[in-house]
Amino acid sequence: MMLAAVVDRYGPPEALVIREVPTPVPGPEQVLVQIHATVVTPSDVAFRNGELWIARLFSGPFKPRLPILGDAFAGVVVSVGAGVTRFSAGDRVAGATGPALGAHAQFVVVDEAGAMIRLPSEVEFGAAAGLCDGGLVALPFLRDQARLEAGQHVLVNGASGSIGTAAVQVARAMGAVVTGVTSTRNVELVRSIGADRVIDYTAEDFTAVDAAYDVIFDTVGKSSFARCYDALKPDGIYLTPTPMLSPAMLRKSGRRARFAATGLRRPAEKAKDLVQLFDWLAAGKLRTVIEREYDFADIAAAHAHVEAGHKVGSIVVNVP
Ligand SMILES: NC(=O)c1ccc[n+]([C@@H]2O[C@H](COP(=O)([O-])OP(=O)(O)OC[C@H]3O[C@@H](n4cnc5c(N)ncnc54)[C@H](OP(=O)(O)O)[C@@H]3O)[C@@H](O)[C@H]2O)c1
Repeated sequence: MMLAAVVDRYGPPEALVIREVPTPVPGPEQVLVQIHATVVTPSDVAFRNGELWIARLFSGPFKPRLPILGDAFAGVVVSVGAGVTRFSAGDRVAGATGPALGAHAQFVVVDEAGAMIRLPSEVEFGAAAGLCDGGLVALPFLRDQARLEAGQHVLVNGASGSIGTAAVQVARAMGAVVTGVTSTRNVELVRSIGADRVIDYTAEDFTAVDAAYDVIFDTVGKSSFARCYDALKPDGIYLTPTPMLSPAMLRKSGRRARFAATGLRRPAEKAKDLVQLFDWLAAGKLRTVIEREYDFADIAAAHAHVEAGHKVGSIVVNVP
């Protein structure tokens, strides 16, 4: 048996209960990972409180279909299936479970070919789980949706969040010129992770410029394509990880907008992205920003903090 944070009904953070559940058993091509660190994200909050209909489409109309939440994880392989060749017991690993969730527990089963990589000894579990949080969203948005090129101008709204801190650094690593938008208390942080310019949204409207940006990545979905239209260059692109519907999204040329569900990408694609992200980490081109670490027993408090909408970087939960 293992401990897991289980959510049997949609509700407030207190709907989460830590209790014993059966430890999953790896199949022939799977590994069993003992989780040391995981993160709580706005997606976990949405799947727990059930307030967004779009979240219920995925997680069940009346009650959570997957009672153990959690995507990004870091830990140690404790056993492997008979057919596994890439991982062995004792390997330090990090990755993302994707739509199967299940990382808010002491153990999780991951496909050998899943979104998981072996961790260098110097990378801490919390930092690794944090990188698998925002990094796996920021990289595909900037590389695949925006097709970002060196020298282009990128604006990242929500630059102090998990996706935002990753996006600022990924865009810089790709050679872009980066403007980050955040509130007063996070201006120094966003500058410290490499933003060339920082806009304090409490003092300045970042959309009040003409044709300034090749890419506007609103990582927190607080603006809209319509509001940002004039701030984009004539062939600029607006990106958002929060679902939006707009006929303009269908445009093939000129200013355009894109939503993508990066969490639903194939595990093999995510595994390749993890190699890139951890290479940049090793090269000092990016770092994980962690505002706070919680004990597993306090995971409901971590949910409440994330739900408030102003976390900085990732919120790590250490699993005993
Ligand atoms: N499409 C996908 O596949 C996918 C995958 C993962 C996540 N998501 C979604 O992406 C969104 C962002 O996730 P996240 O983890 O990066 O969020 P997060 O870390 O919780 O974002 C918090 C940050 O947002 C900033 N913020 C709040 N209000 C703002 C405003 N009006 N303007 C600018 N910044 C503001 C806060 O800065 P201040 O405190 O300074 O205001 C804070 O640092 C969530 O909605 C999540 O569900 C989508």
